[in-house]
Amino acid sequence: MKILVTGSDGMLGQDLVAAAEQSGHEVRACPRTRLDVTDAGAVMEGISVYKPDAVVNCAAWTDVDGAEEHQAEAMAVNATGAGNVAAAAAEIGAKVIYVSSDFVFDGKKRTPYVESDVPAPISAYGRSKLSGEEATLFANRRSMVVRTAWTFGIGGSNFVETMLRNGATEARVLVVHDQVGSPTWTWHLAQGLLRQLDSDAYGIHHMAGAGHCSRYDFAREIFDRAGMEVNTLATDSAMLGRAAARPAFSALESEYPNAIQLPPWQEGLAGYLKQMKNAAARGAR
Ligand SMILES: NC(=O)c1ccc[n+]([C@@H]2O[C@H](COP(=O)([O-])OP(=O)(O)OC[C@H]3O[C@@H](n4cnc5c(N)ncnc54)[C@H](OP(=O)(O)O)[C@@H]3O)[C@@H](O)[C@H]2O)c1
Repeated sequence: MKILVTGSDGMLGQDLVAAAEQSGHEVRACPRTRLDVTDAGAVMEGISVYKPDAVVNCAAWTDVDGAEEHQAEAMAVNATGAGNVAAAAAEIGAKVIYVSSDFVFDGKKRTPYVESDVPAPISAYGRSKLSGEEATLFANRRSMVVRTAWTFGIGGSNFVETMLRNGATEARVLVVHDQVGSPTWTWHLAQGLLRQLDSDAYGIHHMAGAGHCSRYDFAREIFDRAGMEVNTLATDSAMLGRAAARPAFSALESEYPNAIQLPPWQEGLAGYLKQMKNAAARGAR
């Protein structure tokens, strides 16, 4: 299959390009410098010249707090940009995957969110992702919206990296216990997206690391697996005073019997730590 990947320099984009190439697909990696999704003309030209069978839109404004102050910019990438990509793919009859987020939910549920749950975002970022879902589904009848959560992978700033850095440099690390979600290794997600592309299951899908945990428990698992003794203290979201509200509970599961299941989040964490170690060893050589 010929696959075009937008946002290919991000955590997911990098893993998706590598996984697709490993699986024998022909891939066009498009980082923001090659294809800015907010530029409708450039998107139409880039996609119609390459003529992929499928486009995976990994481009996103992912600064959740920054989106509160820069709502128009977040909307431009996550919503208008998503529409541009889906429309250009539709023009040449290509499928499109829009990667969306657990932050489209308000977090009031206490069991994992499934596809038929009604979104109700509580942040500007969440609203922009929900608009992106709608723009994608509207523009291309061969579209799949894949909601994921709490991503971590090589080449981006993420919770695991932040915890490892803070744990190594600070006497004690404060972590919230009142946010629960499904941590997802982007390498596992990339494999899942490739399988999704093989199907004709258009519409909304949930795809995240199996299981869920609080940020606090996630941090403890990171330190344990990294062999670090860190004084980890539980706090709550109100204490941190971040600009954007986060859902208190945003674990994802699929309600479809044939859904593509990702491995448990702990396996993803183990894989990522190994990947980081290998990358560091290569860099040291
Ligand atoms: N991070 C999470 O915890 C999380 C959770 C749920 C869902 N998701 C979703 O997962 C997807 C992949 O995100 P990620 O985790 O890989 O985040 P990421 O590492 O921040 O990647 C996003 C990529 O999009 C690029 N980008 C930004 N604006 C663009 C534009 N106008 N045109 C083209 N590319 C643009 C960024 O480039 P620059 O670096 O140059 O800005 C970056 O390479 C996104 O749709 C995100 O919303 C993420």
